[in-house]
Amino acid sequence: MKSPSKKGLGLMDATPIPWQLIRLLRESGGYISGEKISSELGITRAAVWKKIEALREKGFIIEAVPSKGYRLIKPPDLSAEEILAGICGAFWKGVLFYEKIDSTNELASALSIKRNLDSGTVIIADMQEKGKGRMGRSWVSPPGLNIYMSIVLRPELGPRDSTLLTIIPALACAAAVRSEAGLDIMVKWPNDLVVQGKKLGGILTELKTDLDKIHVAIIGIGLNVNMTGRDFPEEIRPIATSMREVTGKLYSRSAVIIGILREIEYLYAKLKTDGKEAMLAEWRRVSSILGKKVNVSFGNEIISGIAEELDNDGMLILRLPSGAMKRMSAGDVTIMKS
Ligand code: BTN
Repeated sequence: MKSPSKKGLGLMDATPIPWQLIRLLRESGGYISGEKISSELGITRAAVWKKIEALREKGFIIEAVPSKGYRLIKPPDLSAEEILAGICGAFWKGVLFYEKIDSTNELASALSIKRNLDSGTVIIADMQEKGKGRMGRSWVSPPGLNIYMSIVLRPELGPRDSTLLTIIPALACAAAVRSEAGLDIMVKWPNDLVVQGKKLGGILTELKTDLDKIHVAIIGIGLNVNMTGRDFPEEIRPIATSMREVTGKLYSRSAVIIGILREIEYLYAKLKTDGKEAMLAEWRRVSSILGKKVNVSFGNEIISGIAEELDNDGMLILRLPSGAMKRMSAGDVTIMKS
């Protein structure tokens, strides 16, 4: 793998000051004095100034007014520090941010072994040179526009429950996009995020397992945020969309990422208290295919039928024209006009 160009290592314990400072600026809701920051963070006023300057260099617009203090005017569109400031709690262990990388999934997979990355580590890239999609496809990953993120989890789940590791992030993306952009987002089995019939994003979950244990799960999320129609290669233009294309607005990628990560944390906790059924019920509710006539292509085969049910293992139950039921574990679904 080509050596990735790293912009900022945001591991929480290694560099706590920048994100704590951002959190203070945010929570103040207006001006906060250098003195207050200095006492809250246990650093000198001169050090506060230096940290503010460092954030400005990273694209944060921060106003400084004598006798009032500092005020955060605008964070940059994508920043590891901003994301760290927005995800509290013990669940998330760190954010690694790269400007350019082959694939966040590939790096997460390599580092999960080489550096034994903690469960709850997030790898984000501004662009990918070899973004991976499902079924050996590539994932279009230009710079400055979208979200390319991989989450390392070491879940307490057996391989039989592995579909939850796609269902939970899909539900989390749907909730975050709904809350940021007010979009009615559906999930097309197994893992496409769909708005107005076009693909907004996808999830690629890769597992290292043995017979009875998932050792590590790499959950890759690609979400089209600020791309315009022109930014899509011609061949996917008719089937892909972005949050910007649908609403005409630009979005902060950090804000969308924070929304997704908070929602994953919430759903993961809910899984422990309410069990798998609660996740599956919500997944069925936002499914775009149930009850519809579909073609499912898998390898060289195309199977037609009615999408009858998503079962408790996350499999698609297809009612064939003969009336027989077929249980599918993977495939590409096309919704047919009935
Ligand atoms: C799909 O084909 O629908 C899944 C696409 C997953 C793309 C994301 S982008 C971040 C992560 N890194 C990758 O190389 N792929 C996933």
